[in-house]
Amino acid sequence: MKNFLIHRKIYYLLNFFILVNFFTSKVTAQTDSEYNKNLNSSLNAFIEVNAGNRIGKINPDIYGLFMEMCFNEFNGGIWAEMLKSRKFAGNDGEDEYYGVVKPWYPIGKNSKTVFRHDNSIFYCGRQSQKIISDNEGEHRCGIGQSGLYIKNSKNYDVRLNIRQEGIQGKIRIALEGKEDIYGVQVLEAEPDIWQRFELSLNSIASDRDASITITFQGSGKLWVGSVSMMPSENMSGFRKDIVLALKEMKPPNIRWPGGNMVSEYDWEDGIGDRDLRPPRFIRGLWEPNDVGIDEFMTLCRLIGTKPYIAVNSGDGSPHDAANLVEYCNGKSNTSYGRKRADNGHSQPYNIRLWGIGNEMYGNWQNGHVDEETYARRHLSFARAMRSVDKDIKLVAVGGRPWKYPDWNKTMCNISAGHFDYVSLHSYAKKYRRHMKKDDLKDPDFAREFYYYIVSAPHGIEEQITKTFHELQKSLSPGNDVKIAFDEWNCWAYMAPHELVDFSLRDGLYTAGVLHAFRRQNKAVTLGNFSKVVNALSMIRVNGPDLFFNPQYLVFKMYINHSGPHLIKSTVNCDDYPAPEYEKGRTQAIGDIPFIDVSATMSEDEESLYVAVINRHISKSVDAVIQLKDWLPRHQAKRISLACDDYMTENTFEFPERIKIEEEELKNVRFSRDIIIPKHSVTIFEFYKGPEKI
Ligand code: AHR
Repeated sequence: MKNFLIHRKIYYLLNFFILVNFFTSKVTAQTDSEYNKNLNSSLNAFIEVNAGNRIGKINPDIYGLFMEMCFNEFNGGIWAEMLKSRKFAGNDGEDEYYGVVKPWYPIGKNSKTVFRHDNSIFYCGRQSQKIISDNEGEHRCGIGQSGLYIKNSKNYDVRLNIRQEGIQGKIRIALEGKEDIYGVQVLEAEPDIWQRFELSLNSIASDRDASITITFQGSGKLWVGSVSMMPSENMSGFRKDIVLALKEMKPPNIRWPGGNMVSEYDWEDGIGDRDLRPPRFIRGLWEPNDVGIDEFMTLCRLIGTKPYIAVNSGDGSPHDAANLVEYCNGKSNTSYGRKRADNGHSQPYNIRLWGIGNEMYGNWQNGHVDEETYARRHLSFARAMRSVDKDIKLVAVGGRPWKYPDWNKTMCNISAGHFDYVSLHSYAKKYRRHMKKDDLKDPDFAREFYYYIVSAPHGIEEQITKTFHELQKSLSPGNDVKIAFDEWNCWAYMAPHELVDFSLRDGLYTAGVLHAFRRQNKAVTLGNFSKVVNALSMIRVNGPDLFFNPQYLVFKMYINHSGPHLIKSTVNCDDYPAPEYEKGRTQAIGDIPFIDVSATMSEDEESLYVAVINRHISKSVDAVIQLKDWLPRHQAKRISLACDDYMTENTFEFPERIKIEEEELKNVRFSRDIIIPKHSVTIFEFYKGPEKI
C-alpha cells in the first residue's frame, strides 16, 4: 500500500510536469525541416485508466467483416477453385484462339480441328466449349488453361461435365508444364450424354505456370460443359489457409453478399447443383455462382461466425427477399424450407441479421431511387420478410446527414418500426479518383496523406454522433434504433478489381475506427470492415501464396485482446488540428490527440486491456500508464504492431515485414513508464493479481 501511494504521488507530480509541458509545446502542422529535426525526439503522455469506472458495454458485433461476391474475393480468393471461366461463359480469344472461350487455349489446332463455343448444346448457363476433330491416328487435340500455380506432391480434385460423339479412345486430363506431364488421369465417356467425372491428380513437381489439359486422340467431338480444380486440402470448397486465418481472428459476424453487387444478385442463382448454376456477368466479371447461401453458411460454420445477409432491393422484389428468409429460416415443410432440405440442409439456419439493400441513395447503385420511394420500398421488403419470420433484425440503408440530408428523416417518417439499425458506410479516400499509388513517393504528400488517414476515424465518429442524434430526433421515444457501420476502410486510390495496397498507416486507421466504435457504443452495435480477401482486403492471395495486411493484424489483436466493458481512461498528450477532408472542410472537428487510448475489461473482470495508438508520424511517446482501482499481477503482456516506416507494406515477397509482436512484461505496478513507438498500435494486457504488492 505504501509503495502504491509513493508511486501515485510521483506520477501525479509527473502528470503535473507533463501538463505544463503540453501547454508550452502544442504541436501543429510541421514543416519539412521541423519534421527532420524532430525525427528522433519523443513526446510525453499521461494515461490514466480507472478500472473501477465502467462507462459502456461494447457489442462484440462491432468487430464484424464484410465480404462481397465480386472481383476476386470469392473466385480467386477464399473459394478454392483454381480455374477461371470454369463454366465457359464469356467471349472467345482472338486469332488462333478464336472459338475457344477465354482464358482457355486450343491444343492440337490444325486444318482438321474446329473449336467453337456452343450455344445450342451446353451444360449450364448458355454456353459450352466444343472441339471437333477430323484427325486420324495419334493426333491429340483439346483445350487447356495455363497459369496454375501447383505444388509438388499435392493432390488436386478435378470435376468435369463432358459429352462426346464418336471418340474411340480415352479422354485425358493432365497437369502439365512446358515440357513435362506432372499428373494424368484418363477416362472413358459414353456417347451423346452429359457425364460427370470426379478424379484426383497428384503433381510430381511444383510449377507456377502449369496447365490443366483436356484432350483426346483421333477423330470425334467433345463438349466441355464445366470443369473444376481445387487443392484436395480445401475445406468444403474453401481455402484452408484463409479459413484458419479467419478462425484465429474470430470475427463475430460477416455481412454478405454485397455491397453494390447485391443490387443485381438473384440469390436463387446460387442454390442447387453447383455445376448447373448459371454464370452471370456481375461488376465486370463472370460470376460462376459457386458460392451461394448454403456455401456461405458453411463458411460461417467453419470460421465460427454468424451471418448477416443483405437482400437485393435494387432490382429484386420483396417476394424474392421473403423467399430467401424462408429458404434460410423456414421449417422443411415450407415451400422454400423444403428446397433447402433438398439441397442437403434439413435444419433451418435461423439467420437473425438481415440488411435490406445497399447504398440506395447512390447514383452508382442498381435500382437507385429517391428517398421517399425508397422508404416505401423498404417498408414492403420489411413486411414481406417479417411475415416469414417476425424475429429477424433488419438493417435499413442510412445516409450521411450532410450528403443526403433528407434520407434518414424520410426513412424514419415512412418506415419507423420496420428497422432495428440504420447503416452507414465510410471509405477514407481523400483523392481517390485522382490519386495514384506513386504519388506517395513524394515524402511531403506521403506525410500529409498519413495524417489524413490516421485522423479519418475522428470523421467517422462525427458521422456516427450526427446520424444518431438525427435518428433520435426523428424517431419517437422508445424506438431503439442503432447504427450498423457495415462498410468501412481506407481506399487511397483506384486500382483494378480494387486491389489496393495497404501499409502500417492503414493499421493505425483501423485501430482508430475500432476505438471510435467503442466510444460510441450506445450508437454503434454492429460494424463490418470492408473487405476480407483481395479487393480492398485484409488478406491477399496469389495462387497458394498469402499475406496479411495490417488491418487483419489489428483486428486479430483487438478481437483477441479486449473485453466487453469500456473502461474510463483519460489521456494528457499533444494534439494536432484535424486535417482537411475536402477543400475548406476538415474531416473532424477541432484537434486530434496524438495518443488515442481505449481500455476494456473482460466479462470475468480478470483482464484489463489498454489499447494505445501513437499517431505521431516521427516521435515515440514516453508514456506513464496509471491503473486506478486495479491490483495487477506482476506479469502483463504487450502486444504491438510497429515498424520503422509508416509506409511499410507486407507483400508476397516479404509477407512479414509487419507482424504482431508479443512481449511479456515483468514487475508490473499500478503505474508504469513506457515507451510507445512512433506510428504504432499497442495493447497492454493486465491481469488481476492475487499477489500483494
Ligand atoms: O466495393 C466496395 C463498394 O463500395 C461496395 O460494393 C459498395 O457498397 C460501396 O460503394
